[in-house]
Amino acid sequence: MARVAFENIYKRFNKVEVVHDVSIDVKDKEFLVLVGPSGCGKSTCLRMVAGLEEPTEGEIYIGDRIVNGVDPKDRDIAMVFQNYALYPHMSVFDNMAFGLKLRHVPKADIKKQVEEAAGLLGLEPYLKRKPKELSGGQRQRVALGRAIVRNAQVFLMDEPLSNLDAKLRVETRANIISLHQRIQTTTIYVTHDQVEAMTMGDRIAVLNGGIIQQLGTPQELYDHPANIFVAGFIGSPSMNFIPNAKIVSDGDDTAVVLEGVGRVTVPQIFVERARAASDRNLTFGIRPVHLEDAALVGDRDGDVVHSSIDATADVVENLGNELQVYLTTGNKNIIASLDHRSRVVAGNKVRLFVDSDQIHLFDTDSGEAVF
Ligand SMILES: Nc1ncnc2c1ncn2[C@@H]1O[C@H](COP(=O)(O)OP(=O)(O)O)[C@@H](O)[C@H]1O
Ligand SMILES: [Mg+2]
Repeated sequence: MARVAFENIYKRFNKVEVVHDVSIDVKDKEFLVLVGPSGCGKSTCLRMVAGLEEPTEGEIYIGDRIVNGVDPKDRDIAMVFQNYALYPHMSVFDNMAFGLKLRHVPKADIKKQVEEAAGLLGLEPYLKRKPKELSGGQRQRVALGRAIVRNAQVFLMDEPLSNLDAKLRVETRANIISLHQRIQTTTIYVTHDQVEAMTMGDRIAVLNGGIIQQLGTPQELYDHPANIFVAGFIGSPSMNFIPNAKIVSDGDDTAVVLEGVGRVTVPQIFVERARAASDRNLTFGIRPVHLEDAALVGDRDGDVVHSSIDATADVVENLGNELQVYLTTGNKNIIASLDHRSRVVAGNKVRLFVDSDQIHLFDTDSGEAVF
C-alpha cells in the first residue's frame, strides 16, 4: 500500500487551464474524497494519478516514486468507473479473473484470489452469472472485485455509484466503506455528491474551478468552512447566507446587525476577528439546523433570546421528526429546520432563535471566512 501525492499540479488542455496548483497528500490507507461540481476537474485529477493524462506541471507520487511519465500498467493502481466496464460475454468469475490471466498468474492462485474477493463482496452466489443477469449494484461490486483481485497499491474510483438508484447507492456506499475498513487500500474517490463525500471520506478535498477550496475531515469542513463556496456546498439543506452584515460594538457586546432582519451576538472567541473585519463587506451565514422557533427556546433551558431573526414562513414541510420551513427575511429566502413542536404556520411571522455559537461570517468580496 502507499501514499499518493499531488505536488503543485497544473493541467492545461491546449491553453485552457482545468487544474490549478493542486497539492494533496493522500496518506497510506486513507480514503480521500475529491468532491466538487461537474466540470471542476475531478476526473482529470484522478486520470493523472492513473496515467491516463499527464500533468502539464507538477509531480505525482505513488509511494516514494514520481510517476510522471510512467505507463498506467506500471503504476500499480486499480480503477473503478461509473459504467462498470465489465465484459458482457464473460462470467462474473472470468471478469474478475481477467487481469490476473493477462499477467499469467497460476490458475490455482487466480481461483483463490477471485474467491476471496467474491467473499469480501458477497458475490459467491453469482460467480457463474453473466453481467446482464445481475442488478446494477451487483455489477458495480464485480467491478470492485476486479480491482481487489489486482491487489493494487491504490484504488481510484470515479463516481462509481452514479448509475445506481438511490437505495442501491446507499447500500453500495456502505459496501465500499466496509470493504475499505477491511482491506485498507489507499483510495481516491471522486464524486459530485457532498453526502457521499461526508459519509465516506476520512478527509475531503473540495475542488471548484480546478482549485482546491479546502482539504479537511468532514467535521472540519462542516464546522469551519474556509469560504462561502465550501459553506454552501457541504451540508443539506445548504447554509443560509444574508449579505450586508454590519458589526456593531456596544461596550463588551459585539453583534452582527442584519438590517431589517435581526441582531446576533458574536461569541466572545470571535469578537476580535469580527471587529477587525468590520470595515469590509460581510455576509452572515447560519445553517438551517442552527435556527429554532424562539417560542420553544425559552422552555429548553431558560435562555433569554439574545440572538434572533424575524421572518415570515412561506412553506412548512412536516418531516415527522422536524419541520423544514421556507421563510423570507428582509428580501432573502432562508430555510430553517425547526423542532416538530413548533406552531409556525405558513403565512405567519415567526421569530427565529439563532444559535450564536454556530454563526459564520464571510468577506463578501473574497468569499473567505472571517470565522
Ligand atoms: N481531453 C480533454 N480535452 C479538453 N478539455 C478537457 C478534456 N478532458 C476534460 N476537459 C475539460 O476539463 C474540465 C474538467 O473536466 P473533468 O475533470 O472531467 O471534470 P469533472 O470530473 O469534475 O466533472 C472540463 O471543462 C472539461 O470539459
Ligand atoms: Mg468526472
